[in-house]
This record gives sequence, C-alpha cells and structure tokens, in this order.
Amino acid sequence: MFTRISVFATSKISNSLSTLRNIQNCSAVMSKFDLPDRLKNNEYSVWVEYIQLALKYKPLNLGQGFPDFHAPENVTKALASITTSDNPLLNQYTRGFGHPRLVNVIGKLYSKLLNRTLDPNNEVLVTIGAYEALYATLQGHTNTGDEWIIIEPFFDCYVPMVKSVGGVPRFIALKPKSTNGSLSSADWVFDKQELESLFNEKTKGIIVNTPHNPVGKVFTLDELQFIANLAKKWNTLVVSDEVYEWLVYEPYKHIRIATLPDMYERTITIGSAGKTFSVTGWKIGWAYGPENLLYNLKIVHQNSVYTCNTPIQEAVAVGFEQELERFGQPDCYFVSLAKELLPKRDYMAKFLSDVGMSPTIPEGGYFMIANWSALQNKVRLDEETDENRDYRFTKWMTKNVGVQGIPPSAFYSSEHKHLGEDNVRYCFIKKDENLKKAAEILMKWKSQQ
Ligand SMILES: Cc1ncc(COP(=O)(O)O)c(C=O)c1O
Repeated sequence: MFTRISVFATSKISNSLSTLRNIQNCSAVMSKFDLPDRLKNNEYSVWVEYIQLALKYKPLNLGQGFPDFHAPENVTKALASITTSDNPLLNQYTRGFGHPRLVNVIGKLYSKLLNRTLDPNNEVLVTIGAYEALYATLQGHTNTGDEWIIIEPFFDCYVPMVKSVGGVPRFIALKPKSTNGSLSSADWVFDKQELESLFNEKTKGIIVNTPHNPVGKVFTLDELQFIANLAKKWNTLVVSDEVYEWLVYEPYKHIRIATLPDMYERTITIGSAGKTFSVTGWKIGWAYGPENLLYNLKIVHQNSVYTCNTPIQEAVAVGFEQELERFGQPDCYFVSLAKELLPKRDYMAKFLSDVGMSPTIPEGGYFMIANWSALQNKVRLDEETDENRDYRFTKWMTKNVGVQGIPPSAFYSSEHKHLGEDNVRYCFIKKDENLKKAAEILMKWKSQQ
C-alpha cells in the first residue's frame, strides 16, 4: 500500500514538475518570441482597424484612397499582353534596382521635369510602391538618435519607419489660418519660427509631402524655399513624398523641391505608379536623387526585396512612354486625371457643406478633410469608446449612417492628436454614382434629424 501511494505521489509530483517546466519553457519561449523592442508602439494601424470596420458594416467607403473605377486601358492592356508575350523573360526576375525599360523612362521623364540629366542606372531606384521607397530611405539614412522632422498631419507610416530604426521624430503641425468663409488647403500653414527651432545638429532630414495627404496642400515656392534654406543651413536631407505630383487642380502648380538651387544634392524624391496611373494595387514606386544618397536605399532594397515584379514594371514603363509621347497635350493622363477629378472634388465639397460640415478645399491630391464639429449634437459620440472624438464620429457614422471616413488624428503624434479631432478625411476618387450615393445617404440622414 505504502509503496503504491509513494509511486502515485512520486508520479504526481513529477507530473506537476513537468507542468511547471512546460509553463517555464512556454513563458521562456513566449518572451523569446515577443515583438522586438524596436517594433513596439508601432502595432496600431488605422487601415487595419478601418478595413475591418468596413468589412463588418459594409458602409459606402470613402475612407481608403483608391479609385473605384477602371485604370487607363493603355496600362492594363499592356500588362495583360506582357504576361503572354513572346518574350518569356518578361515573367522572370529582372534587374534588382529597377527593370531597365522602366528606369530608362523614369530617368527620361524626370530629366525633363528637373531640367538636368538623370543617370537612370544610378539615380533611380524602383521599389514596391512609394511605401518601400520611404522605408528604404528611412532605414538607409538613419542612425540611432538621428532626428527627422515630420509635418502633421502626416502619412501614417513615416513615424513607425523612423522609430523602428532608432530615429527620433520631431513634429510640426500645419494649422488652418482663420478665414471668414470657406477654407482652402492653402490656408493650412506651418509656423516658420517653429520649424526653424526644430532644426539642430542631430537633424538628419525633413519629410515633405506635396501635394499633401490628407489636407491637399500644394506647398508654395516660398514654403519650399524656406524648408530648402534650413536644410542647407543644417546640412540635412529632404525626403520629398510626391506621390500625388500629377493631381494638382488649376490654377495651382506642383513644385519639385529638388529643382530649387543646390537642392538636388540633398533631396530624395519619391513617386508612385499606383497614384500616377490609378493602379494602387500594382504597388510599384520609385525614388530618384543623387547617386550617393540612393546608394543607402539600394543596400536596404537589395537585402530585403532585391527585385520588383517584372511584368508590372514593364507595363508601367509602357504607360510612361505613351504619356511622354503626349506630354503637354490635354489627353495626357498626367493632366487629364486631375481634370476628371475636379468636378468630383467640387461635388463632394458641396454635399459635405450641405450636410453641415466645413470642408477644406484641396489644391491637390484626392482627399478632402472636413470639420464635422457643427454636427456633434446629431451624432451619439457617447455610444463609442475611443479616446479621440474623430474616431468616435467616424465609427458612429459608419455603423449608423453608412458612410465611412478616416479619423485624421491617426495622422498626428500623440501630443497633437487633438488638432485632428474635429475633422474627418474623405476620398473623392470614386465613381460619380458612388459620390451621389454618399450625398444621398448623408442628406437623408440630415433630413431625419
Ligand atoms: C502620401 C503618401 N505617400 C506614400 C503612399 C504609398 O504609396 P504606394 O501605394 O505607392 O506605396 C501613399 C498612399 O496612400 C500616400 O498617400
């Protein structure tokens, strides 16, 4: 009996010990595989959350920035024929830093626009969307402790990209000047003294986004000149995110900061085929700039992506070649798309005003921010739990009214989120019928108040 108990007790103890060991192993394994420190605080993404929200409530989605209509046929047909062409190599790996036909035409286009000869093999890098170009730039040019000046509201990936590589973001917000009537994106300005005070010995660079997402601001020559002078004074880089370079509404003009005196040498300019040809799902982008600055990006690219999708690069090259042929003519997609979008912009501005919001009329891009604070008595913000009011507004509107926008406080640092809370961001690169539906839904909701 004694022996039997003892065997039972021993086996129980040994079971408990093994359970304990398992727990210890498990927690050791778990902590070993925790998210590395450098990626912590980067876990939240407004896109992940709002795509889920859209899937669940199926609103009319004016949140994410992509066209819901067909891309131009010259590029889509080119892609279709490339994959079945006689040249089998068009479906295989291509040159790592950019497919030759694409870098050649990108070099040709920007040589013309910058009025200087770009070497396509050394001054152009093709990337997976503008996203990778930004990533390679910030990875490739940041040492621990380097500071990057970021203008708020900002395209949200800038901050995690800077932080995850040990960089320090320093923020300055665009603020709307008070006006008597309607607000234009030109009224959103940065304080020059404040910007000047952010530059110091640790500044590695400043990220400028023009035309701007989400405000739609097209930076003026005076503003770019001011930034350029500070960059030269403090010997810093300028990363110019120009993905909406062709989406500028009359009479405004897009100015490339790389064309200002002595600025090409310190500027990395970033573009996107997704935005240029209304094919956001193709995810081809590029960076151009002086060879020594692009070298760092190439090191990041060759060790992460190595080479981008060949047939899509070929199709984008075909698109660029054709647009270059009709450059300056009204049917060139570089100008025709903005012309097509102008009435959509104005239609959206009107229905948002009619419903009681105060939109900022964008000079460029395809987003519109609108101040919704006059509607706050009509929405049940108390039914949502988020800290920021714009999150509560956009979620409540998605669930109860059926139109989805994006909360702009996602594009501010935590200390400045309050600056975005009265606004919502909508996208107007949508079919007329969908914009009309949005207007009808909102007006019907207004009439029921
Ligand atoms: C300002 C800005 N930069 C970069 C990107 C990323 O572009 P891509 O889709 O080519 O990666 C976007 C996309 O919305 C954007 O708005």
